[in-house]
Amino acid sequence: MEKVIQAIRGMNDVLPNESFAWQWIEQILKEVVDQYGYQEIRFPILEYTSLFKRTIGEVTDIVEKEMYTFEDRNGDSLTLRPEGTACCVRAGIEHGLLYNQVRRLWYKGPMFRHERPQKGRYRQFYQFGAEVFGLKGPDIDAEMILMSVRLWKRLSIADHLTLHLNSLGTAETRALYRRELLSYFSAHQRELDEDSQKRLHRNPMRILDSKNPAMQALIKNAPKLMDMLDPDSQAHFDQLRGFLDATGVRYEIDPCLVRGLDYYTKTVFEWTTDRLGAQGTLCAGGRFDALVEQLGGPATEAIGFALGFERLLALMEAVQAFPMQAAMPHVYFIYMGEAAEKRAFVLAESLKDVLPALRLVLNMGGGSFKNQFKKADKSGARLAFILGEEELAQEKIAIKFLREEKMQENIPLQSLTQYMKEFLEDFR
Ligand code: HAM
Repeated sequence: MEKVIQAIRGMNDVLPNESFAWQWIEQILKEVVDQYGYQEIRFPILEYTSLFKRTIGEVTDIVEKEMYTFEDRNGDSLTLRPEGTACCVRAGIEHGLLYNQVRRLWYKGPMFRHERPQKGRYRQFYQFGAEVFGLKGPDIDAEMILMSVRLWKRLSIADHLTLHLNSLGTAETRALYRRELLSYFSAHQRELDEDSQKRLHRNPMRILDSKNPAMQALIKNAPKLMDMLDPDSQAHFDQLRGFLDATGVRYEIDPCLVRGLDYYTKTVFEWTTDRLGAQGTLCAGGRFDALVEQLGGPATEAIGFALGFERLLALMEAVQAFPMQAAMPHVYFIYMGEAAEKRAFVLAESLKDVLPALRLVLNMGGGSFKNQFKKADKSGARLAFILGEEELAQEKIAIKFLREEKMQENIPLQSLTQYMKEFLEDFR
């Protein structure tokens, strides 16, 4: 027998019994970003490799080890996008969206990183991201964080998330900081692991990002950028804290938070949970004030964040934050006899004309009443319509409640539409 082909490791199918949860979350995310005036942007899954090298940074885990990069038939080096910010900036510049204007954009879709797969870490994963261009003040930083708080509240997970905050200052601050770090780590060169040895001269800040437990004590005692912030970044950070304090958002200042991508400036933040084990960062972002210009666009300050769908779903599952009602049909339509079958088709179509929100499954392939009832039950529908010869003769239809203790009803066919309209209005 031929070997059965399976999905690529770290790349998951979303099965029909899971897709409702995805759609439900997507709907809520969209409703919330709509409230804040964001517009959707969609960009390709493939980009030139140089885009990610120039934005995320040559000396980062993503670019050094994790990108799906290949040469296409023209000999161009292409990469499956590992994140959305670089693509968003590229598209914004290319289509002139960033000249002297404020843009609030959101996107969602698959990202690709060749990481070691484990729970909460995949090679194809889905992100929802939001980016704002053209605003430099800490007010937008605060509003973005408040928007994420609103998301957590709408998704009933707010109590399980902690906000970590830091400032990475300007490029100039970081140049000074880099020197400090270089001398600190050089003094402890023998304690550095192989990766960190390699990064010491090329990008010492990345050493702070190491997950190696043996390196943590050294990292913890390293000089902190927060202690060297330039006055402008310090004022920005203090004002952001003022907004958060005034709106009751709790946060922890985490001087070791440097993020794994090189484009950040000033504010950086992460939302983490202790309910998901090692992969506890659900959402992360920050300012990237220099990136647009660095990619050849007009000098444009920017800030954004992205959250991972799989981790969000896992957290919602862990804390049972899902609404119980899934996308089951409202109605399963059972009928018996040729005349009833024809009439059932007509009724089902006309109900769908008038009530677009109605989810009605018409029985297919005949079968005894018993057999059709079994299918109705399995479908998860709340109601069964029953149209037999007797009902048809009386121009009535029987409605049976499949999930509650309630007497079956017989209603005239001519009032069926009104009946279902009221049913949908009451349906929770
Ligand atoms: P990131 O921290 O690399 O940031 O990813 C953001 C989120 O994507 C993570 O917090 C996590 O939930 C999810 N994620 C990342 N890698 C994986 C993976 N291998 N498997 C499952 N989920 C994953 C960014 O991507 C930035 N573009 C965020 C941003 C937007 N900064 C400014 N604007």
